[in-house]
Amino acid sequence: MLSRLALFLAATIVLLANCRHDVIDGVPDDTIGLPPGTSFLEPSAQRSGDPDAGYQYLIYGNYIGSGIPLQVFKQFFGGNSPDDLGRSGDADGIPFNFNVVTASNGVKVVAPTCLTCHAERLNGQLIVGLGNNTSDHTNNQASMFQTADLAVKLLYGQNSPEWNAYYPASRASQTIGPYILTKTRGVNPADKIFATLAAHRRSVDLAWIDAAQFNIPLEAVPTDVPAWWLMKKKNALYYNALGRGDFARLSTASGMLTMLDSTEARQADEKFPDLMAWIRTLEAPAYPYSIDQTLAAQGKLLFENKCSKCHGKYGAEETYPNLLVELSTVKTDTMLANSYQLYPEYANWYNESWYGQGPHKGQLLPNKGYIAPPLDGIWATAPYLHNASVPTLDDLLHSAQRPKYWKRTYDNSDYNQVKMGWNYSVETSKTGIDTYDTTLPGYNNGGHTFGDVLSDSERMAVLEYLKTL
Ligand code: HEC
Ligand code: HEC
Repeated sequence: MLSRLALFLAATIVLLANCRHDVIDGVPDDTIGLPPGTSFLEPSAQRSGDPDAGYQYLIYGNYIGSGIPLQVFKQFFGGNSPDDLGRSGDADGIPFNFNVVTASNGVKVVAPTCLTCHAERLNGQLIVGLGNNTSDHTNNQASMFQTADLAVKLLYGQNSPEWNAYYPASRASQTIGPYILTKTRGVNPADKIFATLAAHRRSVDLAWIDAAQFNIPLEAVPTDVPAWWLMKKKNALYYNALGRGDFARLSTASGMLTMLDSTEARQADEKFPDLMAWIRTLEAPAYPYSIDQTLAAQGKLLFENKCSKCHGKYGAEETYPNLLVELSTVKTDTMLANSYQLYPEYANWYNESWYGQGPHKGQLLPNKGYIAPPLDGIWATAPYLHNASVPTLDDLLHSAQRPKYWKRTYDNSDYNQVKMGWNYSVETSKTGIDTYDTTLPGYNNGGHTFGDVLSDSERMAVLEYLKTL
């Protein structure tokens, strides 16, 4: 009798305990309490689209509609590049980061694509969606276009359809050239490209205007390029969670380089939901080397204890909290976030412009902080932090050990499996464009000290776990 009662009581306790557990599990994390110094980024409605059509648009589409005439391009750059994308027709033999498109006046031109910045080789293989981390933006491209100007004029004449199809690309590139220079190879000036183009576009119909309508600082803020496979988890785009509203609309901004006016923007806007749908199908590449699963399991516990509240959980119980982390908490370089506070003209222009109107509007909402990104495929996306200032994950998780001046080979197979990231040499000063100089404004490698509490063996376990994401 007594034992039955005990069994009954025990069962009741178990049931009650389970019941309580269910209630707690059912409560979203954010109502239990966000980590201090963070806030939740609210989602916004997204348009749906057809992923296959989106990929075709990406590799053949005319979202940038002006460029070097096809014949000139082949003459100067050749037409026999490796067949990375397996394209047919005119694009066969053209480098993966260019499309052959028909300009609005019917001339075939070669125009840069999203893959100029959103594809990269790793161990020799091209990975579409991996951010470019090797291209060199330290030189003003304007002189290259001055040469191309001469070639197009000489071949076709200045009143030719070819010149007209080419001119918008040349005009925009020469205008932005001096404003988008970085101090080291491998970082990207895209934020500044758009801010500078905005100064030269009428907000209502996006038509080009020669004289800048607001002042733009000469300095460009350097950033990394986020991997596309992370986008599907995020409620806000860009490192500082600036991009809100419709992601397709936000991403059409690349058309600002060459479009004649908002007629072209409207056409692209109908196709971009397909491209976004394709980007949402992307998965992170799996770690290609061996993983110590026992060590990784230890690392998982540490990660979930110290990191998940900002970066989420992975595997079967996947969560992603979508948190903006204040500058005073994350303490990484402030220049990117602050530039939108110091120079509000660009975000204001955007929100008032064609892009910021209608049911699928894009919005730029500056923040004093950075999004805590999802860490899927983090092994593949070195260097780290929004400004690409830290060469390896081991250094990221041990802030005192981060190199002040460092240099890598830019060889995409020069990977360090122990430190997880690029092999690098430490230097004592900046010796050239290949040196990452963390003393420069915008290039600081401090902050994100959340890994410093880990002992050496704990850090090794967390690194092992990160290989599995
Ligand atoms: C000149 C280089 C460049 C080109 C070309 C470019 N991007 Fe980007 N893109 C970037 C950089 C750099 C960022 C990150 C900027 C930031 O966060 O401050 C970015 C961010 C994004 C993001 C947000 C990702 C995230 O997780 O926050 C999306 C989506 C995106 N780009 C889509 C596109 C599409 C689609 C195209 C082509 C139509 C394109 N980009 C062309 C450089 C480029
Ligand atoms: C309070 C929130 C918070 C905590 C806790 C936190 N992080 Fe982060 N983490 C961030 C933010 C914000 C960034 C982006 C900072 C930037 O780019 O300037 C970031 C960036 C990173 C990056 C670089 C991402 C990239 O693509 O460059 C890695 C890797 C990372 N964190 C790992 C960890 C690990 C491992 C832990 C636990 C030891 C951890 N983080 C704890 C907020 C956090």
